[in-house]
Amino acid sequence: MGSSVRTTIDWQKLREDFPILNQEINGHPLIYFDNGATAQKPRQVLQAIQRYYEHDNANVHRGIHELSNRATGVYESARERVAKFINARAAQEIIFTRGTTESINLVAATWALDHLKPGDTILLTELEHHSNLVPWQMVAQRTGAKLDYIPVTGDEGTLDLSRLDEQLARGVKLLSVTHISNSMAVVNPIADICARARKLGIVTVIDAAQSAGHLPLDVQAIDCDFLAFSSHKICGPTGIGVLYGRREMLENLSPYQGGGEMISKVEYFKTTYNVPPHRFEAGTPHIEGAAGLHAALDYLDAIGRDAIFAHDQELAEYCAERLREFPGIRIFGPKAGRAGLVSFVLPNAHALDVATMVDQRGVALRAGHHCNQPLMAKLGVPATLRASFYFYNTKNEVDRFIEILKKVNKLFAN
Ligand code: ALA
Repeated sequence: MGSSVRTTIDWQKLREDFPILNQEINGHPLIYFDNGATAQKPRQVLQAIQRYYEHDNANVHRGIHELSNRATGVYESARERVAKFINARAAQEIIFTRGTTESINLVAATWALDHLKPGDTILLTELEHHSNLVPWQMVAQRTGAKLDYIPVTGDEGTLDLSRLDEQLARGVKLLSVTHISNSMAVVNPIADICARARKLGIVTVIDAAQSAGHLPLDVQAIDCDFLAFSSHKICGPTGIGVLYGRREMLENLSPYQGGGEMISKVEYFKTTYNVPPHRFEAGTPHIEGAAGLHAALDYLDAIGRDAIFAHDQELAEYCAERLREFPGIRIFGPKAGRAGLVSFVLPNAHALDVATMVDQRGVALRAGHHCNQPLMAKLGVPATLRASFYFYNTKNEVDRFIEILKKVNKLFAN
């Protein structure tokens, strides 16, 4: 996306779609820089949810009445929309879950528990969020499989892939990697990593929580077996997420939870299971969530994910550059190609204190270990501050944030 296309988008105008942004916090205009945790919702998404409840609400796949048919249409058309959004081959490859965490846990509880045995290896990276780490520790404990990690090089947060082929050849059966690191802003070369794993028949899982909705995603180009993301981080509602599974994988996958919807025939002593994706969606699903997610994907694609990524990168680079005005600051992330966030530590101030004080001036930042405790321990920091951006953030907000941070930082001098 060239800058000429980007400049034709009126980013400031898009803010008007987000009622929440137009308010004061503690007497100051809100500067919302916590998009890595969750994104705000445009009116179009709120309206889609309201429309669903005002016109179409019923349970799905069960009734023969008109409302049930409409609710099923809302739910299944969202599935088709998701498939298109990530270029899946078919809607049947899309499973709705509660979010990225449940999507990864679903793979852990089905494929991994069924296939892994003592001596096998699960390969992760040192960058992983707890949601792509703890489920695999649990699988390792239950199956006797071992864990191994692709190392991170240091404050830049890039992966050291120089020994990847060697690591993969050491009994790896499953590889699970984040696309974009939620604390280091690194964009990992997942297509290359998956291609190297595929040559050895290794099953691949991609945590796309920080990348879906921020850049174009094409599961066929990435050529992964599974990919997980959440709706709430990409302008959709909370409580719904996606697990993409390659059709051949899903066809042979055991069910996840038992209940209604996931069955084909139930007898007192045995059950025949439904086909994918319904086999993995027991119980009444998050129908209004699907309606909202559908609207969110339409909204994002009307802007263009190439343009969103370029906008967010530009803002993050600009913020990192302005943060370098603080003597002794430690800024994490790659020298070039940073995704839309910046993590940093100020020399004389604890991250949690700074986050509390900037909140008094209207700035929402995240401070803490960002669900990356092992990575923080490796980097020798208890916590960092993180500013994470989305397309409705502006350069002017970054400038105001820097001025606020300077005032707060002065209070901690010496
Ligand atoms: N994973 C979310 C974050 O990074 C919660 O903030």
